[in-house]
Amino acid sequence: MKKTLILSYTPRENSNTKKMLDFFIENNQEKTAITFIDLAEEAPDLLLKENLNLYVNRNFGGVELTDEEQKVLAKNDKMMQQLLDTDFVVLASPMYNFSVPATVKAWFDAVIQAGKTFGYTETGIKGFCENTKALILMTSGSDFGIEPYKSVNFATPFLITAFNFLGIPAQAINKFGMIEYADKSNQMIADAKEEIKVVSNQWY
Ligand SMILES: Cc1cc2nc3c(=O)[nH]c(=O)nc-3n(C[C@H](O)[C@H](O)[C@H](O)COP(=O)(O)O)c2cc1C
Repeated sequence: MKKTLILSYTPRENSNTKKMLDFFIENNQEKTAITFIDLAEEAPDLLLKENLNLYVNRNFGGVELTDEEQKVLAKNDKMMQQLLDTDFVVLASPMYNFSVPATVKAWFDAVIQAGKTFGYTETGIKGFCENTKALILMTSGSDFGIEPYKSVNFATPFLITAFNFLGIPAQAINKFGMIEYADKSNQMIADAKEEIKVVSNQWY
């Protein structure tokens, strides 16, 4: 059975993004083995002074860390291994302040590791997760599908670029304008479910 890693940052009561994710899970849980990470309950370690230097020394400098030092990196290493072990990734998150919530960014900072999930080869930088595919489920309050906001959507380009950097083709189902078009939010969720069915049929 193929494996799916689900990353959920949907802490708000009655979260619309969660409705999309719940539908994905209901639709597919019999067809795939799911590992679920709740990024609103358990955040990856932020790259602060100690762990950043251990990571750089180990992954770029080839330094062998002590067991104690390895423990400092263990939480993020585990998240990276979960990514290496999966066939599919689903990331569910709202847009926060034109980008992604900090814990979602922290997940990418945890799993994008030199020598492990990407590396420097004779032909340039290469992502090592080439057999993985990703789906992004995102909502926003305003309409980021049209200007003046379209060109300041830093969330979708970041997510697609970061997955691609890892070698992972990614597609996004975005439902923008949940507050702006509140009267249409139910229809937007219904539309998202139809799009989720299409991706699910392609994947499993
Ligand atoms: C901290 C915070 C920041 C937000 N920033 C944005 C933003 O930059 N652009 C936007 O359109 N909506 C923004 N919103 C609104 C949410 O993206 C929107 O309501 C989304 O649908 C919430 O998803 P949820 O229902 O899954 O919680 C923000 C909401 C919060 C709580």
